[in-house]
Amino acid sequence: MTLPIICDTIPDIRKAVDTARRAGKRIGLVPTMGALHDGHARLIEAAHKDCEFVVVSIFVNPTQFGPKEDFHRYPRTLDEDRDLCARAGAAAIFAPDAAIMYPPGFRTFVEVQTWQDVLCGAARPGHFRGVCTVVLKLFHIARPEVAFFGQKDAQQALILSRMVRDLDVPVEVRTIPTVREPDGLALSSRNRYLDPEQRLHAAALWQTLQAARQLIEKGERDSALIERLMKERLAAVPGVRVDFASIVSRESLAPQARLQGPILIALAVFFGSTRLIDNLQMDVLE
Ligand code: PAF
Repeated sequence: MTLPIICDTIPDIRKAVDTARRAGKRIGLVPTMGALHDGHARLIEAAHKDCEFVVVSIFVNPTQFGPKEDFHRYPRTLDEDRDLCARAGAAAIFAPDAAIMYPPGFRTFVEVQTWQDVLCGAARPGHFRGVCTVVLKLFHIARPEVAFFGQKDAQQALILSRMVRDLDVPVEVRTIPTVREPDGLALSSRNRYLDPEQRLHAAALWQTLQAARQLIEKGERDSALIERLMKERLAAVPGVRVDFASIVSRESLAPQARLQGPILIALAVFFGSTRLIDNLQMDVLE
């Protein structure tokens, strides 16, 4: 098993990528904030299948965290992350300091208007502005042909796809299915914050999404009714505070009174100060 090289400056990672490209290799990028788990491994493996040179960026991006969020306690586990990257087939890790990504005087940000303000964006103002800004920078730095993101962060993937279309960025944004624990809990770096009791109850997120899916499969089309049932179900789980449980169009991120077409059922809850999200996609034919 060859360990991926670690680059912590922009010239170093550009040099590694340029050398690979000159050798005819296709470049794949997997942007992450580290604390890697099997969900990230699937992204890196998917990238490795399609691209001969896979770069994993590991950067806990300060601009996507609110002032009261978990930026400082976000797990930083570079040694373990490097092993996982090696096993999954990454060739290089780009792990810059904040001062490299945001040097003194930095003042340029990217926004995907309105889409950044709904669902997760409503509770986390500025979050998607930080995500779009850092991801666009990573695209310019690594210049990949393809970039891989997890379906668990569905809103993020939709916003980034919109961004590359709107700004003519020559990168394909590819979304990879969510990896789940046996009880359905979506893998997340934040799951490690849960105590054993919270962990037990966290399966409720996936169960609630499945209950919504069953209602739709049985013919229910009243969005408000399904959202209310999801919120009631989540609110009954010990230790849970519901942030949102919403159904929107996957094309516009707008709510629909009556469900039709490609939809996203998304929810976010707090267990104490730990915020967990999950989602399900469906195509409602009639
Ligand atoms: O999904 C994440 O881990 C982050 O939002 C990302 C895309 C790496 C940007 O910091």
